Amino acid sequence: MSAHEIVKDIHWVGAVDWDRRHFHGFSYTTPNGTTYNAYLIIDEKITLVDTVLPEFFGEMADAISGIIDPKKIEYIIANHVEIDHSGALPRMLELCPNATVLCSAKCRDGLKKNYHSDWNFRIVKTGDTVSLGKKTLEFIEAPMIHWPDSMFTYVREDELLLPNDAFGQHFASAERFDDEIDERMIMNEAAKYYANILLDLGSIIHRKLEEVEKMGIPIKIIAPSHGIIWRKDPAKIVEAYKKWSSGVIDSPRVIVIYDTMWGTTEKMARNIVEGVAAEGVAVRLYRAPFSDHTSILKDVLDTKGILVGSSTIHNSFLPTLASLLEEFETLKPKNRIGASFGSFGWGRGACRRIEESLKAAGIDIVMPALETQYVPDKDGFKAYHQFGRDFAKKVKESGVSVLKEA
Ligand code: FEO
Repeated sequence: MSAHEIVKDIHWVGAVDWDRRHFHGFSYTTPNGTTYNAYLIIDEKITLVDTVLPEFFGEMADAISGIIDPKKIEYIIANHVEIDHSGALPRMLELCPNATVLCSAKCRDGLKKNYHSDWNFRIVKTGDTVSLGKKTLEFIEAPMIHWPDSMFTYVREDELLLPNDAFGQHFASAERFDDEIDERMIMNEAAKYYANILLDLGSIIHRKLEEVEKMGIPIKIIAPSHGIIWRKDPAKIVEAYKKWSSGVIDSPRVIVIYDTMWGTTEKMARNIVEGVAAEGVAVRLYRAPFSDHTSILKDVLDTKGILVGSSTIHNSFLPTLASLLEEFETLKPKNRIGASFGSFGWGRGACRRIEESLKAAGIDIVMPALETQYVPDKDGFKAYHQFGRDFAKKVKESGVSVLKEA
């Protein structure tokens, strides 16, 4: 894509990765691709904010060259060391070898370890400012949003926040702004991004948002390092982050996740779903190996109740549930309640192991596991339905408002 002026004298010079289908290895599916957003500030001191993935260096260099001679760049701001934003930095610095890299101390340490080069570094910290001529940059360290080195850059005169990964979305598009594209689609991608990358960092994010609010800096535009730029109503994505990071869930949703060996656990899951729905609680059913884990994690953002079921194999749950449960354990969705269910033949184990995993994820187990040996009879089906109803009641009692009463 060619460069795009986002405000006077600040140009988007990033790259659109239309073909990207997975991120962070294969852990995050990106069916809509992504972008790597870099920004070029034209002033007395020409400044590049972040770069792109190494294979998109040519695209970024061409966009910059269409505006100025890259040799004239005096500063490169590295808001974050991760390779999707710093990967093209070594080749960029070959074009402007005298440029100074402005970054946090931790980012400098990471860049040195990543690229083994001794560039001209200048360490900046929260409150530091740099005058470029007409424009002034302010820096706000943002450790663990989402790496220890992460930093936001603020352009005072334009009231423009460049927060790197925060407020991003994995979404490839020819459009650059939120007012040029379907807002629901973008908010959905922003929620997916938050759930899959930032969920476990909620308290840190909440504190940082409060800190930035107290700084009283006006924010007219938020230009993240992935996806669309927020200029129509940047407060909307900030408010969404405040809510997600608070852990408050205001609708009584349930998700049921399972896998089955010979069909009994599937029967249990389907009857449990009917029981939950009979209580007027919104419910989604996912068979783990056939479902997109990135979307399930996005659903967790506004879901109070999580039920996980599996047949027993080798005294544990089916391995097809393992990666999702591992993600729950690492992302730690707080303020959720859960329970387990499953079938077994000659030996139990799945429910015990599921409960251990849900507890490790910080999910409160609010009901004893529901287990079936071999194949259910008529009473079994009634029990599954009742289990769903009972769990839905627990969700409703947990303080969230109710969509519709049964
Ligand atoms: Fe933490 Fe977009 O990289």
